Amino acid sequence: MRVAIIGSGYVGLVSGACFADFGHVVCCVDKDETKIEALRRGEIPIFEPGLSDLVAKNVRAGRLSFATELAEPVRTAEAVFIAVGTPSRRGDGFADLSYVYQAAREIAAALEGYTVVVTKSTVPVGTGDEVERIIRETAPRASFAVVSNPEFLREGAAIADFKRPDRIVIGAEDERARAVMSELYRPLYLNQAPILFTSRRTAELTKYAANAFLATKITFINEIADLCEKVGANVQEVARGIGLDNRIGTKFLHAGPGFGGSCFPKDTLALIKTAQDYGAPIRIVETVVAVNDQRKRAMARKVIAACGGSVRGKRIAILGLTFKPNTDDMREAPSLAIITALQDAGATIRAYDPEGMEQAKRLLEGVDYAEDAYACADGADALVLVTEWDAFRALDFARLKRLLKSPILVDLRNIYPPGEAEKHGFTYVSVGRASAEEAGVELIDLAERRKARL
Ligand SMILES: NC(=O)c1ccc[n+]([C@@H]2O[C@H](COP(=O)([O-])OP(=O)(O)OC[C@H]3O[C@@H](n4cnc5c(N)ncnc54)[C@H](O)[C@@H]3O)[C@@H](O)[C@H]2O)c1
Repeated sequence: MRVAIIGSGYVGLVSGACFADFGHVVCCVDKDETKIEALRRGEIPIFEPGLSDLVAKNVRAGRLSFATELAEPVRTAEAVFIAVGTPSRRGDGFADLSYVYQAAREIAAALEGYTVVVTKSTVPVGTGDEVERIIRETAPRASFAVVSNPEFLREGAAIADFKRPDRIVIGAEDERARAVMSELYRPLYLNQAPILFTSRRTAELTKYAANAFLATKITFINEIADLCEKVGANVQEVARGIGLDNRIGTKFLHAGPGFGGSCFPKDTLALIKTAQDYGAPIRIVETVVAVNDQRKRAMARKVIAACGGSVRGKRIAILGLTFKPNTDDMREAPSLAIITALQDAGATIRAYDPEGMEQAKRLLEGVDYAEDAYACADGADALVLVTEWDAFRALDFARLKRLLKSPILVDLRNIYPPGEAEKHGFTYVSVGRASAEEAGVELIDLAERRKARL
């Protein structure tokens, strides 16, 4: 099949390369000329494990090409994917659909023969109706169907997620479009990936419901972590204790500095706005967003407390900037809010991230960047682990202790088991794992209190 992908970012490029690898002939289009020129030179503009080889292999096989103009690839394609960004609209938090609608207008002008226009971007329920209206208005005689096929891949594991998805959701109102989509995803039947055919609106909402649910799970365990710190319990053990229950599941139960990234923050906000507009507010997600927003600055307060109550004039070393490991994506990364809050409190920041520093430089001011974890720690008053890159999982504590001005380690991802850093003479602070002693809880007191209540 011939496929055109409009928007060659994290989702467009990965989808394009994977569809090409399934044997389809794919053209990835992007308005960003520098991106397309880089791709044509064989350079991958983002960091995503395995993507470089997959792109190179399919370019060599003649199945994957790149373009800045969509007219020709759309004219010859049986399926055209819209994979442009849908960021939060400045000011009100609704999804900004201007890129989607612009792409729809451009696609409409180039359609020839029956074409399935597929929205892969995450878009609010009803957007497919508007895309259909725009195309019909721009090209009244075009033969097409608009389908919703939301993407669930995770950055950092994008290729595996695309090729072995838990499910594929296809929202289509038209039998012929369903047949085209089945053919497109046929190679995945071999992997027995379930395909859910739904209405277009159901598919659109499914994506938001999935992200909001995962964001809720993260926020839930984060609040449990706060309680653990007060009562002297271990959140990792609580998470395991509940996660082994099949009804709950172990994933997304890692306490940390709050969710960030290119999807959860904007998608939870957009869902809240849609729900309010339709008179069915989702209070639980409203609370999740509010709790998560406060959490990032609370993490800065945790660092300040670990430094004895003030970071004024101190240098803080930050390990990890991206919102999660194995990506260079800095969108809404917790590090941004944490670093800014520490700077506000008078600290200077030196940071290191294996892949995210180029993007971070565009978003953060006054940060000094180091070339590795040890250079980052050198002379700092405290070391803060913000993103759990593998490279930070086996740090040489003896070396770090020699380099740091004071041996304080704040581990916001619970990378290290309690006791390990302390063995090397560190003051170690993590998330939701205080002992009863650290929590200041007199066990006997609790027993007394309980007795008093009975
Ligand atoms: N990043 C993820 O992990 C992820 C996962 C699932 C879903 N999504 C969703 O997929 C969509 C894309 O996300 P992304 O992270 O890939 O975005 P991105 O910002 O990395 O890429 C979007 C690309 O679209 C291009 N573009 C915009 N308008 C265009 C047009 N008219 N013609 C051609 N190119 C155009 C931009 O230049 C940019 O390169 C979003 O709706 C997002 O919510 C993202």
